[in-house]
Amino acid sequence: MSVEEQFTFLEVTKAEEVAKLAAKIVANNIKENPKIVLGLATGNTMISFYRELVKYYKKGFISFSRVKTFNLDEYYGLDSKSKTSFRNFMNKNLFDKVDIKEKNINFLDGDVKNFEKECKRYENKIKEVGGINLQILGIGVNGHIGFNEPGSSFTSVTRKVKLSQSTQKVNAKEFRGKEIPKYALTMGIKTILSANKTILLAIGGEKARIIKKTLEGKITKKVPASVLRKHKNILIIIDCKAGE
Ligand code: GLP
Repeated sequence: MSVEEQFTFLEVTKAEEVAKLAAKIVANNIKENPKIVLGLATGNTMISFYRELVKYYKKGFISFSRVKTFNLDEYYGLDSKSKTSFRNFMNKNLFDKVDIKEKNINFLDGDVKNFEKECKRYENKIKEVGGINLQILGIGVNGHIGFNEPGSSFTSVTRKVKLSQSTQKVNAKEFRGKEIPKYALTMGIKTILSANKTILLAIGGEKARIIKKTLEGKITKKVPASVLRKHKNILIIIDCKAGE
């Protein structure tokens, strides 16, 4: 069987349905396994997804009390309490709205001197809990997943990375005049691929070019997300514009 044939599942739907479908699947996974280990992502695409997921909690369908989470990445050189940190994004969009326990939230600390030690700690922690059951991913316009920029090795693990010019430009909007981080700590591609299941979400026309490359182009380091076609259990949910 070719890699392309193994490629599991693509769902193209209306923009507002992307978040709803993803939240429904994740909520069902939490219901089935209340001690699930989730890998979580940040970015605009995730805002509506978390909003929908919180609805399942508010309705009493799921609880996060035993759920463990690992976020993909964090800016390097930024205090986690900073407004622009991914940790703050997660607090605002999910953690503060559900009954997750602080001790079950795992995050890379971008405010450490010894980043190598921090990255090792994170990898070990993921292994210690038995690995990630379900990883949620967005995609950068250049094909990055987490902050694995084009050129990242498929065998990379959690590490410090330099953000590409194009990513820094996209991020500039969030940092409005403040210094834009040039580095980040991110799970590696190997770390991401080791999750049992992965769901990638993409919305909007600006993602169309990279989604086409991811799905139909070569599996190459130049398009990090293309490696997902090698994953044993991947679901890609996109809207019509991203699928054009
Ligand atoms: C950041 C995150 C990625 C995310 C990407 C896309 O770069 N590190 O994990 O996939 O943003 O963000 P958006 O959904 O805003 O396009």
